[in-house]
Amino acid sequence: MNILAFESSCDETAAAVVRDGRTVLSSVIASSADMHAIYGGVVPEIASRKHVEAIAGLAEEALRQSGLSKQEVDAVAVTYAPGLIGAVLVGVNFAKSVALALGVPLIPVHHVRGHIAANYIAHPDLEPPFVCLCVSGGTTLIVAVEDYTRMEILGGTRDDAAGECFDKTARVLGLGYPGGAPLDTLAQAGSDTVYVFPRAHVEGHPLDMSFSGLKTAVINLVHNASQKGEELDLPGLAASFSAAVSDSLVPRVMEANRRTGWNKIAVAGGVAANSRIRRDLETACAQAGARLWLPPLSLCGDNAAMIGCQGYYEYLAGHLAGADLNAYAVRDIRQDAPN
Ligand code: KG4
Repeated sequence: MNILAFESSCDETAAAVVRDGRTVLSSVIASSADMHAIYGGVVPEIASRKHVEAIAGLAEEALRQSGLSKQEVDAVAVTYAPGLIGAVLVGVNFAKSVALALGVPLIPVHHVRGHIAANYIAHPDLEPPFVCLCVSGGTTLIVAVEDYTRMEILGGTRDDAAGECFDKTARVLGLGYPGGAPLDTLAQAGSDTVYVFPRAHVEGHPLDMSFSGLKTAVINLVHNASQKGEELDLPGLAASFSAAVSDSLVPRVMEANRRTGWNKIAVAGGVAANSRIRRDLETACAQAGARLWLPPLSLCGDNAAMIGCQGYYEYLAGHLAGADLNAYAVRDIRQDAPN
């Protein structure tokens, strides 16, 4: 089954063709991150406009690279939630038109379910159940993936997402937007014991996290140093910060794994590219005797291949939508798409 898939939830417009869920025939991405970098963060209106400009050309290009004709497309999948509402709407409306024009089913896909599915593309042997740490610019969740379309939330952030915390820290260090990757590179040249940052816990909810205090701690440290004219050890700061994020995530993932007893752990989302988190998870999983699946860096960020992959499993579960499909800025990962 060939699925033409679209993703437009934030600042990447993407199209892909995926066969039977796990074989990517093509995957193309256009990012408007350069435009947002001028403002230090995503400007929703600019993101929406860039999606409108890019999506038709990307659809043609994804089809061309797949070697398939339009008649060989069996279904259209699209991210319908969560994300910047104007941005998601562009993809949803375009996908609706394509599905209607081709006379094929329309499959709504939850963006974070898509991130989880990126692991199926990279790892043919991975099948549910497993515990997945979903960490991106807007999401930080520990999910029990019971089946391809059945999820439970075991824990999550009570405030900022880990990616948001990386981006704001990078901004205050002058590393630009999106700052997670450059901060990661900087951290590799530093010692993680130079600065002491908080590791928050949520009383009574051991698998939940909080990152807003960490973000504030970094911002205060940088501002105080600048007011006093003190120089900061920037690689040390980046390394100490990355250690604090990893220390908030990794032990909770391991505890979630212990509770399920599955001993299978995967990671998903843009922050899954972080070298410190990957290393700490590898060490913790080796100690616990758990198997770990890490997506390749190329599949960590937003792309449409992961939407085509998850779309296949949503299709098998009968989760289709009609021309009245709406976009949602916020949507629980446990909920199937409406109608
Ligand atoms: O999954 P993604 O591309 O978009 C969302 O759905 O949010 O994730 C983007 C996030 C940004 O916050 C970016 O700074 C972060 O992933 N990121 C990283 C790294 N690479 C990307 N954060 C930490 N370390 C990295 N190496």
